[in-house]
Amino acid sequence: MNSLAVLPGAVGGIRLVGLPMPSPPGVGEVRVRMLRAPINPADLLAIDDRYAFELPRDLPLGAEGVGMVETAGDGVSDLAPGDPVMMLSRGNWCACRTLPRSDVVALPHGVGIDQAAMLRINPPTALLLLEAAGVKPGDVVVQNAAGSAVAAWVRALAARMEVTVVDVVRRPDPELPQAIVDGDGLADRVSAAVGDRPIRAALDCVAGAATGRMAACLSPAGRLVVFGHLSGEPISVPSQLLTGGGLTIRGFSLRPAEAAMGRDGVRAMFDDLLAFHAHGQLALPVREVVPLSRAEEAIAQARAGGKGRVLLDLTA
Ligand SMILES: NC(=O)c1ccc[n+]([C@@H]2O[C@H](COP(=O)([O-])OP(=O)(O)OC[C@H]3O[C@@H](n4cnc5c(N)ncnc54)[C@H](OP(=O)(O)O)[C@@H]3O)[C@@H](O)[C@H]2O)c1
Repeated sequence: MNSLAVLPGAVGGIRLVGLPMPSPPGVGEVRVRMLRAPINPADLLAIDDRYAFELPRDLPLGAEGVGMVETAGDGVSDLAPGDPVMMLSRGNWCACRTLPRSDVVALPHGVGIDQAAMLRINPPTALLLLEAAGVKPGDVVVQNAAGSAVAAWVRALAARMEVTVVDVVRRPDPELPQAIVDGDGLADRVSAAVGDRPIRAALDCVAGAATGRMAACLSPAGRLVVFGHLSGEPISVPSQLLTGGGLTIRGFSLRPAEAAMGRDGVRAMFDDLLAFHAHGQLALPVREVVPLSRAEEAIAQARAGGKGRVLLDLTA
């Protein structure tokens, strides 16, 4: 029997293939029936060969995914068939995976799988971005692409830290009436919104000229964290802002940040984030759930943009 999977194709495309069923779990492993996976901007970058890291061409795509334990191998005593789990490793656009127990996080029974499928990347990204930005309670941080899933998590986690967030969008967003529209004079409008409170950090995932506008919002010695490339343009920052303002620019990527934390650190972070999610019920919009067998169509929908995430139904 084969297991359907989506692999990278020619640049910009995918291959829908039938892979041999993964082996039964060995010692310390689990076999997981995959259920749901979102199509994230990073997946589109991977398909387009524009991702920051080189990914294997012979393994399934998919940074996030959730499933249900089918079989637990010897030595795995804390997971049983039917338990919902979230995958920590890539390679989730497939029907079935066998992987080390240490590569999965147990989810609470009864968890909504659509929301759970979106918990692997953006919540820890938001949390670690706030850390990378060095913000403390009482600080103000500005973020662009404020309608994004990461930005929603930044708002939620910043509120928990008593950090104020100023949202910037590229066009008016009825769901974020408080957000400031990006463009000329952004720094003045952001400054008017926060009064005389210093802006310690800026979170930029747009790049291009937007990065310069975010840098201009910062108070002296502020920190600019670049973590995405939605514009597709190289960042452009007036150098006087760096010299005059003593700004620091740094890049951020989730996986290296997690690697530096070690597996125990990552697990502790997810314990915290899953508990926070269970209480906060931060529900992100889902645009459509599309069968894995129609992945090409789902990817086209994700590329077209619009509110809500396109999810793959990995059972169909
Ligand atoms: N470095 C990391 O480890 C890491 C981890 C996770 C995510 N990211 C990055 O974080 C960013 C957001 O990801 P996400 O999954 O949260 O996004 P998302 O939910 O898919 O939302 C994308 C948002 O970006 C906005 N947008 C798209 N193109 C834009 C452009 N050219 N200029 C300004 N805004 C634009 C959209 O605005 P409209 O509503 O106006 O269409 C939308 O609100 C992406 O760049 C992603 O690659 C990085």
